[in-house]
Amino acid sequence: MRKAIIAGNWKMNKTPDEAKALVEALKPLVAGASCDVVVCVPAVDIAAAKAAVKGSKIKVGAQNVHFAASGAYTGELSADMIKAAGAEYVIIGHSERRQYFGETDTTVNQRTVAAVKAGLKAIVCVGESRAEREAGYTDALVEYQTLIALTGLDKNDLKNIVIAYEPVWAIGTGLVATDEQANETIGVIRAAVARKYGKAAAGKLRIQYGGSMKPNNVKGLMAQPEIDGGLIGGASLKAEDFAAIVNYDK
Ligand code: 13P
Repeated sequence: MRKAIIAGNWKMNKTPDEAKALVEALKPLVAGASCDVVVCVPAVDIAAAKAAVKGSKIKVGAQNVHFAASGAYTGELSADMIKAAGAEYVIIGHSERRQYFGETDTTVNQRTVAAVKAGLKAIVCVGESRAEREAGYTDALVEYQTLIALTGLDKNDLKNIVIAYEPVWAIGTGLVATDEQANETIGVIRAAVARKYGKAAAGKLRIQYGGSMKPNNVKGLMAQPEIDGGLIGGASLKAEDFAAIVNYDK
């Protein structure tokens, strides 16, 4: 069985001091969690978060990584840098980066390869817009996004990959995919991975749902057989809400 993984995506929120306070509030609340727990924080908060998670099972992640090892890329951070700062995970290809910062399937792939080769665990985001769903392109799109993101990686690398299925229309909108919709699309992603990497590897790959996941809808989503966790935006900024999601099985 796949171990569930619940990750917070803090997006552009919290200073280092605020990050420390949020992690410290979270620690006792998630001490009994049976899933993996990750907080993906702004890069300037990684060191503070890493220090604050000490003695707990919470892991720290970043929200982006550059594909080059070093060089003239003003404003970017390499995988070695974020790893040295204390990150074990990194979110790659979030729809906000695709929408606002020109991230493409190709750069998502380059960043994913760089992250995995550097020893980070990559949380790779895929998902359709409302127009794409209404036009009937969801399955084709998420397959394509997933397989391109993984190009150049072999099946042994999949243990360092988490896919986050985040329908763009459900992010920050309060609209959540139905349990069945999320399960079905995640099943499509897993089937595509199985065709390329084999059933065994795909069966071990963890695939999260993200998009308005909250304490009041997490149980239904997590009861679905294909859904292995969540990538949580807004609700990850409040310790009680995030902890309630992490403790969905209690
Ligand atoms: P919300 O939980 O705020 O909808 O955000 C989801 C998300 O984008 C996580 O990466």
